[in-house]
Amino acid sequence: CCLFINPTLKALSPTTTTTTTINRKHIPISSLMETPTMKPDTVLILDFGSQYTHLITRRIRSLNVFSLVLSGTSSLKQISSHNPRVVILSGGPHSVHAPDAPSFPEGFVEWAEGNGVHVLGICYGLQLIVQRLGGVVVEGESKEYGKMEIEVKGGESEIFGKGRVGEKQVVWMSHGDEALKLPDGFEVVAQSAQGAVAALENRGRRIYGLQYHPEVTHSPKGMETLKHFLFDVCGVSADWKMEDLMEEEIKVINNTVAADEHVICALSGGVDSTVAATLVHKAIGDRLHCIFVDNGLLRYKEQERVMDTFERDLHLPVTCVDASEQFLSQLKGVVDPETKRKIIGKEFINIFDQFAHELEKKHGKKPAFLVQGTLYPDVIESCPPPGTDRTHSHTIKSHHNVGGLPKDMKLKLIEPLKLLFKDEVRELGRILNVPVGFLKRHPFPGPGLAVRVLGDVTQGNALEVLRQVDEIFIQSIRDAGLYDSIWQAFAVFLPVRSVGVQGDKRTHSHVVALRAVTSQDGMTADWFNFEHKFLDDVSRKICNSVQGVNRVVQDITSKPPSTIEWE
Ligand code: XMP
Repeated sequence: CCLFINPTLKALSPTTTTTTTINRKHIPISSLMETPTMKPDTVLILDFGSQYTHLITRRIRSLNVFSLVLSGTSSLKQISSHNPRVVILSGGPHSVHAPDAPSFPEGFVEWAEGNGVHVLGICYGLQLIVQRLGGVVVEGESKEYGKMEIEVKGGESEIFGKGRVGEKQVVWMSHGDEALKLPDGFEVVAQSAQGAVAALENRGRRIYGLQYHPEVTHSPKGMETLKHFLFDVCGVSADWKMEDLMEEEIKVINNTVAADEHVICALSGGVDSTVAATLVHKAIGDRLHCIFVDNGLLRYKEQERVMDTFERDLHLPVTCVDASEQFLSQLKGVVDPETKRKIIGKEFINIFDQFAHELEKKHGKKPAFLVQGTLYPDVIESCPPPGTDRTHSHTIKSHHNVGGLPKDMKLKLIEPLKLLFKDEVRELGRILNVPVGFLKRHPFPGPGLAVRVLGDVTQGNALEVLRQVDEIFIQSIRDAGLYDSIWQAFAVFLPVRSVGVQGDKRTHSHVVALRAVTSQDGMTADWFNFEHKFLDDVSRKICNSVQGVNRVVQDITSKPPSTIEWE
C-alpha cells in the first residue's frame, strides 16, 4: 500500500489513464529491508496510532540505531521478516477493551521470547501487554494527562538501571486506562504520584512497559531511559550511519537497473527529488535522464535559478521543458483545488510520456524506471494503523493519496529515500555535495502557485502579482536572517478585492496573505511569530511596489486545524 509519487508528480489524478504507467507489482523497493549485506540492529515500532510514533523512530535514529515503523496489526511474518532486536509497541488512542482495539498478532510474544527479542510497550502498548498476558486493565478513576511525577520502585529494575530505587522524575502521561493487576512474573518498577503503574518489567521474558511517553521532551529523563534500555538492556549497537545507507542504496540501484536500461527523474527543484536524482546519478551516471518542467506555476525566476544550480553545482544533465501554455490553458476557469491538482498531474504525465518517447528514439530503448523522492513520512502516512483518524490526511488533498497512481503503470519505481525523514535527506544531500543553500530550500508543492492563487489561476495577472509579493516576502525573510528558522513561507493570492486609498485615490484592489510556519515534517505546523517591525516593513514594501495589491494580511493558524497550503 505504500506508494508515493514525487513532488512534481504528487498531483496526479486518480482517474488518469495514460501510456506512461507504473506496474505496482514490480516495484524495486530499494530499501534496507531487501539489502542482503547490511544488517544494522533494527528497532521495530508497531504503530497503534499514537501521535508520537514518528517521534520515537526519529529519536532512536538520532542515536545511530536503525528504526522502522510497521502498522500495529502487521502479521507475525511481516514483523519477523525485519529480524528486529527490539520491538516497541506504541501508544494509541484506543482502550484495550474496545471491540475493535488493534493488537499485535497471535504468537508474537512467543516469537519474541524464542528469538531473544526485547519488547517494550509504551502507554497503550503497556496496556496491551498486560491484557494479552493475563493481567487486568481498567478505566482509571482519575485519568493521567500531562506532567506527572513518578517514583522508581523495583530494586532490580533493568529499564531504569539498578540502584535508582526511590528516584523521582517528571514524565509525560496521556492515558485513561491503567494496569490494575499485572500478569504473572511481572513487577511494578515505577509508580505515579497517583499510585498508578508507571513502569513494569519481566526481566526473564525480556518484556518491559512504560505507561508514560519517554520520547517527548516533557519527559526530561525519557531519552536517558530509552538510551539505557536500548544499549545497556537490549545490547543494541549504534552502527547505523548515513554513509552506509548511501553505499547500500547505490548497490541496490545498480542491482535493480540493468546495464542497458535507462531511468527518468522529474526534478521539481525541491530537496527530495534533487537528492534522489543525485544519488541515482552517482549510481548509474548518464543513464539517468532528468526533466524539469516549467508549468507556468513556478515562483519568481524559478526556472533560471533551479536550472543554474543543476548545471553549475550538481552537473546533472537536465532537460528543461517550458510547458506553461499547455498547463495554463487547461487550467482556465478551473476553481476547484482538487480539479486543479488532477489537471496538473495529468499534464505532467503527458510530458513525461513525450520525454520517454524521445529518449526511446535516441537510445533505442524506452526508460523502464522512474525515480521518486518519496520520504518515510509519506510511507507511514499511507499505511495508517486501523481505527485511527490518521487516514484523514489521505482525503484532504489528493497529493497525499497513493491511490493517485494509474492501475496499469509500466514504469518501475526507484525510491531511494523512502526510509528517510526530511532532515535525514538533507544529511544525505550534504554527503552527496548538494549545495547547502539548495538543501535548505523551503518545500514547494508540485502544483506550485496553482494552490496559492485561490480560484482560477488564469484570472487577470494573479500569478504575476503573486510572484512579486512572494519574492518580496521571501527576500525580506532572508535579509532578516530568518529563512532557516522557518519551515516554509509563502504568499497567497486571494480572489477578493477590498477598498483602499493610495496617493489620495480610492483603490479597489486585491488582498494577499502571508503564511510562514515552523514544523518538523509538515504534518503538524505552528505559525511563525514575526516581529511587528518586520511585518510592518514587508506590508509597506508590498503595497508600495506591487500594482494591484492594497491589503496584506497574515495567516495565524496552526496545522491542525488549518493545512499549510490554503488549497
Ligand atoms: P498541507 O497543505 O497539506 O502541506 O499542510 C503539507 C506540505 O505538503 C506540501 N504540499 C504539497 N506538495 N503537492 C506537493 O508536492 C501538493 O499537492 C501539495 N500540497 C501541499 C505543502 O507545501 C507542505 O510542505
